[in-house]
Amino acid sequence: MYKFDTLDRSQTNSAKWEGPRHKVGRDDYLVFSVADSDYETAPEIKKALKERVDHGAFGYTLAGDGYIEAVQTWMENRHHVSVKKPWIVPAPKVLTSMSMMIEAFTGADDKIAIQTPVYHVFFDVVKLSGRKLVENPLDDENGYAMDYAHLERCFQDGVKMLFLCSPHNPVGRVWKKEELQKLVELCKAYDVYLVSDEIHADLILPGHTFVSAGTFFEDYENILVVNAPSKTFNIAGLHAANVVVSTPALRRTLKATMRKFFIGTPNALALTACQTAYEQCDAWVDAQNEHIRANYELTKSFFEENVPEAKVSDLQGTYLLWIDLRAFNVKGKDIYEGLMAHGIVVGEGKRYGVQCDGFIRVNLACSKAQLLEGLRRMDTYFETLRT
Ligand SMILES: Cc1ncc(COP(=O)(O)O)c(C=O)c1O
Repeated sequence: MYKFDTLDRSQTNSAKWEGPRHKVGRDDYLVFSVADSDYETAPEIKKALKERVDHGAFGYTLAGDGYIEAVQTWMENRHHVSVKKPWIVPAPKVLTSMSMMIEAFTGADDKIAIQTPVYHVFFDVVKLSGRKLVENPLDDENGYAMDYAHLERCFQDGVKMLFLCSPHNPVGRVWKKEELQKLVELCKAYDVYLVSDEIHADLILPGHTFVSAGTFFEDYENILVVNAPSKTFNIAGLHAANVVVSTPALRRTLKATMRKFFIGTPNALALTACQTAYEQCDAWVDAQNEHIRANYELTKSFFEENVPEAKVSDLQGTYLLWIDLRAFNVKGKDIYEGLMAHGIVVGEGKRYGVQCDGFIRVNLACSKAQLLEGLRRMDTYFETLRT
């Protein structure tokens, strides 16, 4: 019913496709790096945007009742979190919201923890704020898990805020309720703000269940959840996100900080796209998740059969596949550049953590045809490492 083909984005100044052009040195390159999908957004969103554009007036626009209700209903139905309307604070971007949280709830000398490997911009958000970055590396003994003992030592050492990535980019984990509960208890014991970035929350592979940190709002008052339709619906260029804060005092402080920097709601078109996504696109999201699952199965089998040296992570959520290539004993930079010379751009492992040299992150949200061509080129490159 729905099609998930790769769109030609060459005329759109796509950051994902145009960004690497100067580095690659050939025109037929394929990009599997930046986390946006190559799919056309849901037809319902395209239609709503066309109608909104046809209206012709694009003045200052409120996040109206319909918008807030759509976010509330989506969270209730898809994330199983019961949210009251005033808890929802619309914002233009997830990263902007996280910067505002740092500004609102931490002081200049405070420490903020992240769990590596993690979305590389988390490093920047903390460092650019001037706060001290503390790393709690994920434990990768038997699949990735949170290292609570080390995290507790970080908390004892004065961490004030933790950025949780849920589901976790780049390792693809969908955190289980028990894992989150333990984390919440630890944050509560040490009075640490728990900021849960749930931008990938709708990209859950069949067989896994997403649990929002918002499930624990009643257990701990210092939880802030931020989610967005941007990854799920390929509308990151429109800028829409929503922060969910159940504690009135936190909400007041966050809103005051946003006001200080004149951070408003998503723009007029973003509001239309987000509301439509959450009101009308359940079936489209399920179909997309099925397509991503099929791409994952294809990639996993491909690596099992052709690249036995590689360790492919168990993809539970997101469309970002984390692959360990350390068995080749080649520097990560050489792998990254070698793949590029074969016309493939991937995410280089060490961007996500110093311990990740020799890993790559591969975005699977593309057509099957593009994926197959990418895998064929990878295979040709990996063969050169064996000789
Ligand atoms: C975990 C995570 N958070 C945030 C972002 C960026 O969000 P935004 O563009 O809304 O700031 C990304 C984009 O890749 C991401 O993967």
